[in-house]
Amino acid sequence: MTSGDDVKACCAATYSSDAVALLLCDYHHPGGTALTRRLADGLGLTPDHRVLDVASGRGTTVLLLADGYGCHGDGVDYAPANTALVRDAAARLGLTERVTFTTGDAEQLPFADGVFDAVLCECALCTFPDKTKAAAEFARVLRPGGRVGITDVTAIPDRLPPELIGLAAHIACVADARPLDEYAALPSAAGLRPLRAEHHDQAMTRMIDHLEARLNLLHLTSAPALTATGIDWKAAPPLLAAAHTAVTDGTLGYALLTAEKPHNP
Ligand SMILES: C[S@@+](CC[C@H](N)C(=O)[O-])C[C@H]1O[C@@H](n2cnc3c(N)ncnc32)[C@H](O)[C@@H]1O
Repeated sequence: MTSGDDVKACCAATYSSDAVALLLCDYHHPGGTALTRRLADGLGLTPDHRVLDVASGRGTTVLLLADGYGCHGDGVDYAPANTALVRDAAARLGLTERVTFTTGDAEQLPFADGVFDAVLCECALCTFPDKTKAAAEFARVLRPGGRVGITDVTAIPDRLPPELIGLAAHIACVADARPLDEYAALPSAAGLRPLRAEHHDQAMTRMIDHLEARLNLLHLTSAPALTATGIDWKAAPPLLAAAHTAVTDGTLGYALLTAEKPHNP
């Protein structure tokens, strides 16, 4: 039996590894930067806003929010290696004054109540063992009138094939993914008012296509680098093929939702 802390640590170690960086390139979640912009646009951001990205990974979204929207961006991620990497990137881009990165847990955010104007979480809620607690934390750190924006992998759990169940599939954001209405119920249960809920399943197909192409290219051009990661890459093609089929038959997808913290709960 894998504990919640083991799942978080495994996910954090995987997504801060060079192997995953090699595979993902700049494509950090389905929909890429275009879907991040759509999410950010729905949050009504202005330059005086302080925005938190929960599970900020390598910091792409926080840097985009600071650079493209002029906000102060905070990122929090479970992986200390990610925090260190992204601090270096921020310094290189001259954004150090407008971004802050902290190592921490989405289920126990290391921030005071009501300090953020907006909270984002992309492609990560699906991996959190206690999603209800994480959503309550998003609501707690938001000021009244502030908005939360989430994009994530959706799934119909009892239709997932065996290849898409288990720890590897959990880390790949699939095994514990939920239908859109279950995600939408999380902010509502935390007292937030729903604003928008959209399906973006084609983003999932494009991400799987990218991963297949990237894996093939790396096998041809960088086989020693792949082997050096110590990962059993033979497991990847069947997992990706099963994911492709699951998107086609409506079992897997990707979604965006936003919600607002009422002034008078
Ligand atoms: C699929 S990646 C998504 C990264 C980023 N949001 C993006 O879209 O590029 C999942 C991220 O969640 C982080 N993570 C996993 N569990 C976490 C937790 N309990 N608290 C904070 N971060 C967590 C991992 O370290 C990893 O960076």
